[in-house]
Amino acid sequence: MTGAAAVLELFRARFGGAPGGMWFAPGRANLMGEHTDYNGGFVLPFALGQGIVAAAARLGGRRLVLCSAQEPGSAVEVALDGLAPGQVTGWAAYPAGVAWALGAAGCEVPGARIAIDSDLPAGAGLSSSAALECATALALTELSGLAVDRRELAAIARRAENDFVGVPSGIMDQSASLLSRRGHALLLDCRSLETSQVPFDPAGSGAGLLLINTRASHELTAGEYGRRRAECEQAARLLGVPSLRYLTDLGDLDRLTDPVLRRRARHVLTDNQRVQEVAGLLTSGSGDAYPRIGRLLTQAHQSLRDDFEISWPEADAAVDAALASGALGARMIGGGFGGSVLALVPGEAPVRAAVAGAFAERSWTAAEFLDAAPSDSAKRVGLE
Ligand code: GLA
Repeated sequence: MTGAAAVLELFRARFGGAPGGMWFAPGRANLMGEHTDYNGGFVLPFALGQGIVAAAARLGGRRLVLCSAQEPGSAVEVALDGLAPGQVTGWAAYPAGVAWALGAAGCEVPGARIAIDSDLPAGAGLSSSAALECATALALTELSGLAVDRRELAAIARRAENDFVGVPSGIMDQSASLLSRRGHALLLDCRSLETSQVPFDPAGSGAGLLLINTRASHELTAGEYGRRRAECEQAARLLGVPSLRYLTDLGDLDRLTDPVLRRRARHVLTDNQRVQEVAGLLTSGSGDAYPRIGRLLTQAHQSLRDDFEISWPEADAAVDAALASGALGARMIGGGFGGSVLALVPGEAPVRAAVAGAFAERSWTAAEFLDAAPSDSAKRVGLE
């Protein structure tokens, strides 16, 4: 059963009747620019074909009733009047937070029943939370006939995550889910919020993208993410700049006497440069663009591992195995400490075999290989 058919079935089984509509929001992978978004820097993510589908119908009365195929148990009911951070926990905090943030932005949110289904592995660093927020945001606004600009919707979804759920994330994931275009990566300047679509079709150039879920699950609320963010803010303060985005010269970092802060800032500065380099290579269409992008991916992994210190053993082993078996480049993606690796490969089979072998040798849970096709952003869906 396709995602839309499955969620329609779930809606009927749990609530009875038909939904007023179904909305899909994709997860994302990130080609370049990690932990640069909340530093006002650049990111270059793309939407995946996998994501969250929400089937929703208006409901009389000011409440949300939520159920999910991935969360067995009874539906969660949320009163919309007086809704405030801290009142809803667990997975339902994401859709409830969106209703709260929409209300705070002046959008009158209707009562609704929402059934949710996902084909994104949770904890794989592919932004299932942002996809859940964005699918809910589209469902609630379109059900009530509100036309909200997608950039504004991304900011609202982020606010749900930051202020309602309590995860201090940046704007990358929600932007990727709401603003991406098939066959492109989204270049986002997180200071000005300007975006541009950069043609990204590795398959057309004989390269493939392989997404490796290392099955070491990450948890953004676990503190390290917030700690990195605080270190970056401290480094910016000490350097007298509004954010690390303003750094352009590695020499500036010498003014940071703390070696940890210096490494953190170096990662942000060099990753911002790598985003621009990758975007430039993709736009130029030059013949050796993909091998060069591959090398930048691997440099980014080294920076995330050694300077930002957020990689994890399964990611390092997957990157090493991918490179040893012919990958053009590979790196961990997302917030860190678990999740996925993105590899740029001339051919998938040898890389899959090498990664599977490396994991088996260490008696780790087998890695999962996923398609990573640059896909369209969130949209209303029907039954195909
Ligand atoms: C998570 C956050 C994003 C971003 C990445 C790291 O995915 O949600 O805002 O900071 O980590 O690049």
